[in-house]
Amino acid sequence: MRMLLLCILCYMYVVEVATSTNCPEYVFRRIPLNVSITHNLFTADKGLTVKECGQKCIGTTSCASFSYLQGHVSQCYLFTRRVRLGLDQTVQPGPVTYWLLQETCPSDYTYNATNNICYKAYFDSTDLMSWAEAMNRCEEDGGYLYMANTTEKFNLIKSLNVPSRVEAYMGCTRHRGVKVTWKCLDGSDFVGEWYPGEPSSTIEDCVAIIYGNLIGALDVNCLGLRRFICEIPVRFP
Ligand SMILES: *[C@@H]1O[C@H](CO)[C@@H](O)[C@H](O)[C@H]1NC(C)=O
Ligand SMILES: *[C@@H]1O[C@H](CO)[C@@H](O)[C@H](O)[C@H]1NC(C)=O
Ligand SMILES: *[C@@H]1O[C@H](CO)[C@@H](O)[C@H](O)[C@H]1NC(C)=O
Repeated sequence: MRMLLLCILCYMYVVEVATSTNCPEYVFRRIPLNVSITHNLFTADKGLTVKECGQKCIGTTSCASFSYLQGHVSQCYLFTRRVRLGLDQTVQPGPVTYWLLQETCPSDYTYNATNNICYKAYFDSTDLMSWAEAMNRCEEDGGYLYMANTTEKFNLIKSLNVPSRVEAYMGCTRHRGVKVTWKCLDGSDFVGEWYPGEPSSTIEDCVAIIYGNLIGALDVNCLGLRRFICEIPVRFP
């Protein structure tokens, strides 16, 4: 499994900065911003090239982004957080270039920046599986079944272009307590719109999304063969 994971992470290094060809896991995206950032700064170096600065960030576990000041003596600043436009900007506008460090998704996964996740919809007719089998497949990819635990994340899968009547599992299930609740794999609450009339059963414990004129969540039998959606967590918030 570990080997497989390593290989999944070996994809194109689409970088303007670091062009190493080894096992690339990161993409740097340049953010043209004419201000400097003071929050979450944890180290500053003088005299590096922008490429060396990027590589330093890659080699530093807690580095999520960096900025680079090109000048008489260049400055390389590493940050523990991603640069957020409009949030972290303060003081001293100047010739500073910002770079965002972003993990790449495996090539068949899609990155969604709003939700900061890599996801993949297994929607082929050959992708039919039970909930447990689907979960295994997602785990082989290095992730888990998609957790619709925010409105935004539910909207993301809702917006996928899918033929009518397709049903796909996500990583949320019924929890029987004093009161029945619907929770996702990490214990967070399922947040999504139920299809009209759903949940409709007291014995169907898994959550699927159904596509059509109306799109919504269904409670379904976990053994039924369905399509599914996986997600892979990314390291930086
Ligand atoms: C960036 O800020 C500097 C200093 O305020 C200014 O001289 C320069 O024109 C600005 N550059 C851009 C591209 O806005
Ligand atoms: C929802 O899922 C994400 C993973 O996509 C996870 O990081 C987060 O902690 C979960 N919970 C909430 C409340 O967002
Ligand atoms: C990312 O997800 C949001 C919903 O959370 C969606 O509105 C947006 O279009 C998605 N971005 C892309 C590039 O698909």
